[in-house]
Amino acid sequence: MKKIFALLPIVLLLAAFTPAPKPVTPAADPVIPADVQALLDKYGCTACHSATRKLVGPVWTAVAAKKYSVKRIIQLVGKPEPANWPGYPPMVAQKVPKEDLTKIAKWLVALN
Ligand code: HEC
Repeated sequence: MKKIFALLPIVLLLAAFTPAPKPVTPAADPVIPADVQALLDKYGCTACHSATRKLVGPVWTAVAAKKYSVKRIIQLVGKPEPANWPGYPPMVAQKVPKEDLTKIAKWLVALN
């Protein structure tokens, strides 16, 4: 019995120096380059779309899986067709200058 009490400080010491488990940080969206991310933030797309999590809108990878052309994406963002996404609320038409939208669309096309 005495031996157990003698070991106790050692056990406590070991416990104290065991590194705490790493805090679980949500996985950063892995596939979004900084310049595209800045545009997605600027135009509020990030409020409803993520590369990894289903939010209000579909994840970017699911959109990319539809294999749209750049032109078609630009068209759909300006004039959404909710019928393409059963089970989702309709996306409101997004006003994004063509140049920036082209960057976003090119990234989406290259995503998958
Ligand atoms: C308020 C929420 C919301 C915001 C903000 C938003 N989206 Fe969406 N998006 C959706 C939803 C919901 C859908 C699926 C339904 C639909 O297409 O109408 C969608 C669908 C899409 C699609 C697929 C279209 C299709 O027909 O397959 C693209 C591309 C897209 N969004 C791009 C964007 C971009 C780029 C931005 C930022 C400029 C943006 N979205 C901002 C909610 C949003």
